[in-house]
Amino acid sequence: MDTARGRAAWLEAGAGWPVILLHAFPLSADMWRPQLARVPEGWRFIAPDLRGFGQSRFLPPDGGTEITIDGYAADVLSLMDGLELDNAVIGGLSMGGYVSFAMFREAPSRFTAMILADTRPQADTPQARVGRARLRDVLAKEGPRGVADQMLPKLLAEAGRREGHDALREARAMIEVAEPAAIDAAIGAMIGRPDSTLLLPRISCPTLVVVGEYDEITPAAEAEAMQRAIPRSTLTVIPGAGHLSNLEQPEAFSHALGDFLLAHL
Ligand code: MLT
Repeated sequence: MDTARGRAAWLEAGAGWPVILLHAFPLSADMWRPQLARVPEGWRFIAPDLRGFGQSRFLPPDGGTEITIDGYAADVLSLMDGLELDNAVIGGLSMGGYVSFAMFREAPSRFTAMILADTRPQADTPQARVGRARLRDVLAKEGPRGVADQMLPKLLAEAGRREGHDALREARAMIEVAEPAAIDAAIGAMIGRPDSTLLLPRISCPTLVVVGEYDEITPAAEAEAMQRAIPRSTLTVIPGAGHLSNLEQPEAFSHALGDFLLAHL
């Protein structure tokens, strides 16, 4: 679909009240396929590809230097306009959570509820920025495959890392087909994102915080602290999962999401 901000791509399933699910870095809307296969009755799940990822191969001609988390948020708000959705349950996993915070800052009234999975409100620390610079080097030298080699051990819990595990295979496939320019642009966007800690007490809609028990990137203790700061929120820890909790334990994640939708909306 052509939106005010360019061509948008997304996956969707179900019919009814809209739920927008935003993907992690450097994956794509495909990571939500397990949830799209289990949409509860009465709901419509919409998983956009963020700019440059998946089917949304639409980067600015300058090589992506203008990509920001606020820009991804504006893209998703434009997609909502194109789909004629005034509001929705909006959320995402990790980088998708960063985009959700940016959308809430810009347009809180478009949220009927929020989902924050394996994410954090803080901006990057100086140490995290050093790690991102290293990842950019790996990308320049070895391409997306090198990025997958470096990131997968941190993205998945031990069980998910086993050769042949669906989550490992699926996450690797998504990373390896990502456009290098999109990966590089997203790294820049994450480095530049603002701190959202002060936003947390202002998130007035029902909010589900989800975290994998063994998440090494955004650990459960941090998710607990985030949940305590959001007034109308609940926390679900997904047993046995790492950072990509929805891919590693799809049934448990879908259950948590379904229960939340049923209880709060
Ligand atoms: C993600 O899963 O989106 C990334 O790990 C987020 C990050 O690197 O901050």
